Amino acid sequence: MESILLSVLMTILATLGMGILLIYIIFKQRYTYWDDFDIAVKRPQFPYGSLGSPFNKTSSAHTAMADVYKYFKKNKQKQGGIYVYCSPLYVAIDPVIVKNILIKDFNYFSERLAYYNKKSDPFSFTILTTSGQEWKDMRTKLTPLFTINKLKTMFPLLQIHNDRFVKKIDDYVKRMEPVEIKNLAGCMITDIIGSCSLGVECNSLEYPNCNFRKFGKRLFHFSLFRLLKATFSRGFPNLARSLGLVVFPRDVSHFFMKIVDEVVDYRIKNNIKYNDFLQSIMELEKSEKDERVKRTNIAVQSTVLFSAGFDSTSSTLTDAVYELGCNPEIQEKLRKEVTSVLERHNGVITYEALIEMEYLNRVIDETLRKYPAVSILFRKCAQDYHVEGTNITIEKGVIACISILGIHMDPEYYPNPEVFDPERFTEINKSKRPPCTYLPFIEGPRNCIALKFGLLQVKLALANILKNFKFSINSKTGIPVMDSKAFTYRFSSDIYVDFEKI
Ligand code: HEM
Repeated sequence: MESILLSVLMTILATLGMGILLIYIIFKQRYTYWDDFDIAVKRPQFPYGSLGSPFNKTSSAHTAMADVYKYFKKNKQKQGGIYVYCSPLYVAIDPVIVKNILIKDFNYFSERLAYYNKKSDPFSFTILTTSGQEWKDMRTKLTPLFTINKLKTMFPLLQIHNDRFVKKIDDYVKRMEPVEIKNLAGCMITDIIGSCSLGVECNSLEYPNCNFRKFGKRLFHFSLFRLLKATFSRGFPNLARSLGLVVFPRDVSHFFMKIVDEVVDYRIKNNIKYNDFLQSIMELEKSEKDERVKRTNIAVQSTVLFSAGFDSTSSTLTDAVYELGCNPEIQEKLRKEVTSVLERHNGVITYEALIEMEYLNRVIDETLRKYPAVSILFRKCAQDYHVEGTNITIEKGVIACISILGIHMDPEYYPNPEVFDPERFTEINKSKRPPCTYLPFIEGPRNCIALKFGLLQVKLALANILKNFKFSINSKTGIPVMDSKAFTYRFSSDIYVDFEKI
């Protein structure tokens, strides 16, 4: 019996050993990809490639890619080749190459690394995931949602949520408790985007554990199983499609489908129209004859706005409050601007008043420089592409990436990059930097469709805070840690802020 067990164990170990050896040989073979090109390479280590282990607690893909940028830049390279696991990636360093990839030669690089399956996983078929004509059609359809006039009509709705936000902070002041701003900002932005995109009162400022927060967080949570499915579907999209693979969690899509369906029913039944994104999306889908398809399209489009906008906006607001709390002189200078502009507007924060707050723009620009919510950009090369001014042709299918964090922390463009200094964004200072060295919303046809809406939310919230409170960082905060698992570049540790009513 013992000898049988032993021989089974030996067979398993031998098979495992052979498997690992085979993987090692395949990886080693793949690690020669860049050898045929005239390009500097950051040497890979089996099995992680050039970025190092994802289990390293002090590093993340965000900082690892910024380190790759630094490495090539230090070696005076315009570009570089790396490996992520066993895939070769092209890294653009020179801003002219970055500009060509994003703008001039966009047609070669319009595709994100994303999987979609219109039939079996309709929630995966969105502006974020599609490419080519399908993406163009969606982009054309959704662009009119974000005109300045539309934003102005939604402004009162945004201010209602900001009044509640201020009131909530006031409650903490009365109780003499610090505010954990990451969570509170997350709740307020959930409420704003929820009411604008889904047409519902999420009420998460009152009930932070409500389903909207729960399912909102689940949109970005990748369990090991979801991660495996996502990785497989990106690697083999056609096979995944023919297998009918569903990556978007079903309970999350059911939740959003049901909510949006109920709101749409209510609006149609009572003949009510609101000034929000959901209403505009309902108008866009008017011509669709199939009622089920129409309803699914409405739910998918409104959910994608909710998902694309919520994390980036709430983390930008948190980052700005954190930096202003750490830099009292900048906070005071900004408060002076807010107060003096509001004096000309009868003390009321209006859309027009916000436009006049120039220093506020600079503070937000600098926040997004230090903390770009999207810190790395990945694009799949659609056809062989010759990189102008070099001997390199990026082959079809190879992924090109740009470390936005790396560029934003490059001392050539931003001396003392760790220092928070809004003066970097005066018109004169901006004009001294080459194009495509500031990319929080990226540039080109596939930039953030809701740039103005995102900025408006952050500006409005900061103006409300500065009008009503002075604040500093509570010592409980310690040195903030960035989230190494999140797709967005954001704090993982809590940020406690002491507010004082003015
Ligand atoms: C400060 C807040 C925001 C920042 C920093 C930000 C940043 C970005 C960036 C960098 C991209 C390009 C990502 C890539 O190509 O991989 C992007 C795309 C996008 N963003 Fe934003 N965003 C913000 C707010 C919002 C909001 C509030 C919404 C929706 C209401 C939104 C909707 C979208 C959509 C739909 C896309 C995809 C556009 C396309 O593929 O054509 N964003 N955003």
